[in-house]
Amino acid sequence: MKVLANDGISQSGIDALEKGGFEVITTTVAQEQLINYINEKDITVLLVRSATTVRKDLIDACPNLKVIGRGGVGMDNIDVEYAREQGRSVINTPAASSHSVAELVFGHLFGLARFLHNSNRDMPLEGDSNFKGLKKAYAKGTELKGKTLGVLGFGRIGQATAKVAIGAGMKVIAFDPFMDEANLELDFFDGQKLNFNIKTISKEDVLKQADFLTLHVPAQDDYVIGKPELEIMKDGAILVNAARGGVVDEVALVEAITSGKIARAALDVFEKEPKPEMQLLMNPALSLTPHTGAATNEAQDRIGTELAEQIIGILK
Ligand SMILES: NC(=O)c1ccc[n+]([C@@H]2O[C@H](COP(=O)([O-])OP(=O)(O)OC[C@H]3O[C@@H](n4cnc5c(N)ncnc54)[C@H](O)[C@@H]3O)[C@@H](O)[C@H]2O)c1
Repeated sequence: MKVLANDGISQSGIDALEKGGFEVITTTVAQEQLINYINEKDITVLLVRSATTVRKDLIDACPNLKVIGRGGVGMDNIDVEYAREQGRSVINTPAASSHSVAELVFGHLFGLARFLHNSNRDMPLEGDSNFKGLKKAYAKGTELKGKTLGVLGFGRIGQATAKVAIGAGMKVIAFDPFMDEANLELDFFDGQKLNFNIKTISKEDVLKQADFLTLHVPAQDDYVIGKPELEIMKDGAILVNAARGGVVDEVALVEAITSGKIARAALDVFEKEPKPEMQLLMNPALSLTPHTGAATNEAQDRIGTELAEQIIGILK
């Protein structure tokens, strides 16, 4: 049986599929030629990321296509319900990148706590002429250990982030309207395991108590952090949004930074992608990444092997 990985797949995924007896094709076929290609080559499994779309017309026109797989989380590019009604299997890998996103959040948090985002901008320009000035400017760093991390949205990534926080010596508090508590198991290098039970509390209490706040909620109609929420937060708090553009009101955030209410913030996602507001890009209080939360080699490996395991389970 043939697998077409139209938006690419990791070598570990190819290896696992080949070991399972599949032929893997990694050619990128243009969207308008996809139906013909799938039928001519007798493709059984189509794997996509976010670039290729799998709509009704393709599903109807390719009766021998049995499995549609999305490497990653969101399946907006696939007509999932329709495909399932037609008896096709639709799979994805929602957990594969959770730890990668959690580590990016901590990259930002450690950086913001010690002004690395500014220092990395200033050292190339002034490191030789104003070393002492910069040393003084960035002298008032803070440690994360002993501080409180507030997590809004305690699903896969929220919990993965909480685990990293606990490992770094932080206290974790969380709000999730659909979850009362979560059991977190931390694995250590020597085989030890430790369990932590975190009971969620109200959003208001999280906002009031958090020294650092991180969002891990799905896209929604309203802002999760807007002006009213920012006003409740601790003075000088630090905020990270690696969830979705549009869950934080960017205008209100910049205002809160300007007034000093919020000390600094990190954004991996933006209301306007791929053209974030210049006001954000130029703001020295912001630590910025171009939506790279899930972009690690390890996450890509896990996506590939998790897809392969599911495909082998369905078809073999
Ligand atoms: N930065 C990146 O590259 C990157 C990568 C992967 C996922 N994400 C994003 O991260 C977010 C979380 O992903 P996940 O896999 O943890 O999802 P998940 O579904 O496992 O968890 C989301 C949690 O948020 C909770 N929630 C919903 N509305 C809420 C609200 N208003 N307030 C508080 N909690 C709320 C849900 O009950 C759920 O437990 C998603 O928005 C996803 O798109 C970003």
